Amino acid sequence: MDAIECIKTRMSIRKFKPDRVPEDVLMKVIDTAKWSPSYKNSQPWEAIIVSGRKKEELSRYLVNLLENGEKPSPDIEEPKSWPAENEKRISALLRKRSEITGKDLNDPEVRKKAKIANFNFYGAPHGIFLFHDSSLTTWSIFDLGLFTQSLMLASHSLGLGTVPQAFLTDYAKQIKEFLGIPASKRLVIGISIGYPDMDSPINSYRTERVSTSEIVKFIE
Ligand SMILES: Cc1cc2nc3c(=O)[nH]c(=O)nc-3n(C[C@H](O)[C@H](O)[C@H](O)COP(=O)(O)O)c2cc1C
Repeated sequence: MDAIECIKTRMSIRKFKPDRVPEDVLMKVIDTAKWSPSYKNSQPWEAIIVSGRKKEELSRYLVNLLENGEKPSPDIEEPKSWPAENEKRISALLRKRSEITGKDLNDPEVRKKAKIANFNFYGAPHGIFLFHDSSLTTWSIFDLGLFTQSLMLASHSLGLGTVPQAFLTDYAKQIKEFLGIPASKRLVIGISIGYPDMDSPINSYRTERVSTSEIVKFIE
């Protein structure tokens, strides 16, 4: 698969087969992602891959926090509102998802279940958490975004599925404690990874993009 095909065919996977990914394959994914560019080659990324019993335990812990009404406190603030053009695209996504699942995503119970599915890593055998030192600036968050995309593309080219999940950062403090990560680190993103279950309807939907002419202007 060439780079353009890889970028265009990657999609977020929200149902995985339970089969574990061999450790050398997970290593290859990280080993590839580390070739991402970063501000002054600072390489600010640190990854924790959680699997097996520990992953199950973490899922239960996160679901319990949610059930007990613990307020989310991510290290990166959740957006409170969006500019109108972005809001329009978000609404289109939610409408399409509601159509596919037959569930109203504005219903708080449905939203809670969606969060629980996130905390269960959508059935993936592994979760990847990306951190960096919390004294780092927005540029280093940018770098982790590049690392995340490289990781997802490397995974896709190896037949793996991924989904980046801001929801997996909701309880950042508790996750860091659970994983033995110093509080001085910033949890930037969680990513579920595994073999995609392409028979699941949730994986049948490809998100859309606005036309290219809407996002680029050539000036000379
Ligand atoms: C920073 C970031 C946070 C995201 N958080 C979540 C999340 O918490 N749960 C989820 O299911 N998808 C999450 N997504 C996936 C987006 O919904 C998805 O990338 C978008 O709808 C485009 O779809 P695609 O990835 O299939 O192309 C996130 C994506 C990004 C880049």
